[in-house]
Amino acid sequence: DSAPFSSSTAAGPDPYCYRMDYPSMGICLIINNKNFHSSTGMNARNGTDIDAAYAMKTFSSLGYNVKVENDRTVAQMKELLSRVSKQDHSGSASFVCVLLSHGDEGVIYGIDGCERFENLTQYFKGDRCRSLVGKPKLFFIQACRGSALDGGSWIETDSVDGQTSERIPVEADFLYAYSTAPGYYSWRNTSNGSWFMQSLCEMLLRYSGELELMQIMTRVNRKVALHFESSSSLPGFSSKKQIPCIVSMLTKDFYFPKK
Ligand SMILES: *[C@@H]1O[C@H](CO)[C@@H](O)[C@H](O)[C@H]1NC(C)=O
Ligand SMILES: *[C@@H]1O[C@H](CO)[C@@H](O)[C@H](O)[C@H]1NC(C)=O
Ligand SMILES: *[C@@H]1O[C@H](CO)[C@@H](O)[C@H](O)[C@H]1NC(C)=O
Ligand SMILES: *[C@@H]1O[C@H](CO)[C@@H](O)[C@H](O)[C@H]1NC(C)=O
Repeated sequence: DSAPFSSSTAAGPDPYCYRMDYPSMGICLIINNKNFHSSTGMNARNGTDIDAAYAMKTFSSLGYNVKVENDRTVAQMKELLSRVSKQDHSGSASFVCVLLSHGDEGVIYGIDGCERFENLTQYFKGDRCRSLVGKPKLFFIQACRGSALDGGSWIETDSVDGQTSERIPVEADFLYAYSTAPGYYSWRNTSNGSWFMQSLCEMLLRYSGELELMQIMTRVNRKVALHFESSSSLPGFSSKKQIPCIVSMLTKDFYFPKK
């Protein structure tokens, strides 16, 4: 299918939008870690299968070739990401990776321990993954980034291209969409899935083909921030809030195709 927003006119492709006129949207790799080795001391992430299923449905409907990998060790995650990065992505418009796991500041867990986040994403940098150079590499991360809890605060209710031979930085064209701000806990409802993944999938399905990716992510921020509040029997864990955190190294606008 042709891409709705792209950009190929008589004047040539729009230099401010990522090209979408590739044979495929690309691979969406979902790593869904639920059951952890007892040596890690980590609880089972009940509810994560709902996130994985919703992400699978969402990215399939956006045209991605989705692969789900359950309960991977750190070594398996690295092997998997390394292998995918070495595939030929020349017919793909982009690459998506959804990571569902436990985490802490700067690290994400395999089922047997943790690994620095950059150690997992490094395989896709411009100097290591040539067939994705200049294309968006989108990482969506549902994981804690610490143990801080956001008590919220009250507000007044009414206040509220053409590929030339230019050199580009190897860190360019990445988007890291974190479920929560640095240092903070990330909430997951065991019967309805995590706040972030529920909101992300809902907004992607609703606004793709209409809004640009960063605008969609701002809608996700708003949904998580306003729609959810924790309820817990653990003392001090109730009535907490959460705000996702978008870290963008994208260099152009990105429109998912119209469904
Ligand atoms: C997860 O679900 C299983 C089975 O329903 C239950 O036995 C376990 O206690 C739950 N674990 C957590 C951490 O909620
Ligand atoms: C990240 O990878 C480097 C090089 O492979 C390794 O030395 C380092 O220990 C890794 N960091 C973590 C936290 O695993
Ligand atoms: C539970 O999840 C469903 C499907 O994602 C969603 O439509 C519904 O709004 C969620 N419930 C709440 C209270 O967030
Ligand atoms: C989980 O979501 C359900 C459905 O939206 C809601 O009824 C329930 O209170 C939530 N549980 C917690 C612990 O927040």
